[in-house]
Amino acid sequence: MEQVDAVIRARLVSEVALINQISAYIIGAGGKRIRPRLVLLFASALGFHGPERLELAAIVEFIHTATLLHDDVVDESGLRRGRETANALFGNAASVLVGDFLYSRAFQMMVSVNHMRVLDVLADATNVIAEGEVLQLMNMHDPDLAVESYLRVIRFKTAKLFEASARLGAVIANASGPVEEACADYGRSLGTAFQLVDDLLDYEGATTQLGKNVGDDLREGKPTLPLLIAMARSSDAERGLIRHAIEQGEVARLAEIVEIVRRTGALDATREAARAEADIAHQSLAALPPSPSRDALIELCVRSVERSS
Ligand code: IPE
Ligand code: IPE
Ligand code: MG
Ligand code: MG
Repeated sequence: MEQVDAVIRARLVSEVALINQISAYIIGAGGKRIRPRLVLLFASALGFHGPERLELAAIVEFIHTATLLHDDVVDESGLRRGRETANALFGNAASVLVGDFLYSRAFQMMVSVNHMRVLDVLADATNVIAEGEVLQLMNMHDPDLAVESYLRVIRFKTAKLFEASARLGAVIANASGPVEEACADYGRSLGTAFQLVDDLLDYEGATTQLGKNVGDDLREGKPTLPLLIAMARSSDAERGLIRHAIEQGEVARLAEIVEIVRRTGALDATREAARAEADIAHQSLAALPPSPSRDALIELCVRSVERSS
């Protein structure tokens, strides 16, 4: 990961000062770097240690960071990685444009890897992520959203990049078709578990630990699984309160809603759904030979579900 960091720093450079300033600001704040870790772990679990893996790891982190710059504008978020968001500090226009820079820099780097399948995987992933964000926009303020539709959004907006990261490790290692698919399955399931937990932490978590403001999803009127489950399990009056909050996107009664979400067991049920996805991810690893990297991938399944940051 130190080597990935060096590639990230080297590739960030631009002749335009504001690009350097904003990209260094958000990337310098760190982040968990889970997606590049997936690339490295799958490549190494399959016996590949060439320098391309570092480039691919940096590419997926750039794409991820670009989506965060754009996502925080769309979500009007004020806090990211424990810092003021780029949109809060530098404005929406600068955030969107630097996000575009990171996206397109990632595509320059992909071309330099000179591997058609890599381009194929990443072109597909970025396209699906965009579809996921737009689908989510269409679902905003809809308290009648079906769980299936919610899951489709998180498969697109989050799980797809996890899937691509895992798959790239396999592609670069020249794995067989079935092994590549098992790696992709792992990424898709882990990514789904990861976003389910993100959505529950928006109610249960602590802003200081998350480095993001809790309650943002409700403020935006985002119908996430904790709310969908709580509505299905609560009284008419409580359901009315949640419906109203989703329709209006208000946090005035956040404390009451958190209480309902908690009491109905919606947070536990969401974590249970995440655990089931993480179990599927774990099972996919049967396709890999035992190794310390595979052990680390198993460990990630556990940590993604139990995390509080
Ligand atoms: C945040 O992803 C966006 C989601 C998919 C929930 P991460 O939680 O991986 O963000 P960083 O990179 O660690 O900040
Ligand atoms: C994640 O969605 C954004 C992408 C995957 C593009 P969220 O809006 O839930 O993520 P946070 O909570 O802002 O990190
Ligand atoms: Mg967001
Ligand atoms: Mg969120």
